[in-house]
Amino acid sequence: MSGPDLSGEWAAFAPEWIARMAAGRDRAREGVLDDWMLEVIGDVSARSVIDLGCGEGRFCRMLAARGARTLGVDLQPAFVEHARAVAGPSERYELGDLQSLAGVPGASFDLAVSYISLVDVPDEAAAVREAFRVLVPGGRFVVCNLAPMATATKTEDPWVRRPDRSKVHYVLDHYAEEGPRDIPFPSGHRITNHHRMLSSTLNTFLDAGFELRRLHEPLPNQEQLARVPDNEDLFRVPIFVIYDLRKPR
Ligand SMILES: C[S@@+](CC[C@H](N)C(=O)[O-])C[C@H]1O[C@@H](n2cnc3c(N)ncnc32)[C@H](O)[C@@H]1O
Repeated sequence: MSGPDLSGEWAAFAPEWIARMAAGRDRAREGVLDDWMLEVIGDVSARSVIDLGCGEGRFCRMLAARGARTLGVDLQPAFVEHARAVAGPSERYELGDLQSLAGVPGASFDLAVSYISLVDVPDEAAAVREAFRVLVPGGRFVVCNLAPMATATKTEDPWVRRPDRSKVHYVLDHYAEEGPRDIPFPSGHRITNHHRMLSSTLNTFLDAGFELRRLHEPLPNQEQLARVPDNEDLFRVPIFVIYDLRKPR
């Protein structure tokens, strides 16, 4: 039996995703995650960076604007074409599968980034081993992902709501049942995510050889909340997690 056609799902979603990113309509990224990722990553000037599952290239552009030389890799041709069309001189984009980075030499990047893309891949261990391989000794792997507590649920709307649609509480269920989850977006598109327990993902990083420097559960500060009040939900439910990892020297 074949699995979900993730590439086909993203192909259908790509035009809307590109427009959504261009319009700054991603409240999680704009409202809290970008600031956290940039803070965790720190100075990238003159650093070589690979962005695994770079989408239409927004985070590569942000890192390149801070002085990095970036390679963005994505499975989706529409994203790679868009990213190339708007790329600056220190950005490169390649079509590729982050589970098997054929053609990317080992020990060639100071930093690898995965910004909500590991949740997409069926074989997380393969993707993590590839990230480890392409990093120089001492190189860092910074992973922003959906939190395992948020990916577990199988209900269409993870919130239990009152008749007026206000939120009562969030459903956490099926936690130990790892595997695909069919995620609906408001536009009607559906994307397959892969739920894994926290221990599975953490041990996958450790088994590949990474050291865990720090684990972050991003929360908005007052200024970020004023920008995007809906992110107050992050004080109720851990939707995102950032793993700050390093390949030993
Ligand atoms: C949620 S989007 C995030 C995109 C981008 N990192 C961002 O934050 O805007 C997930 C991305 O992972 C890509 N992707 C999924 N599976 C992949 C794979 N096996 N190899 C490379 N990219 C993949 C998708 O095409 C999509 O662009």
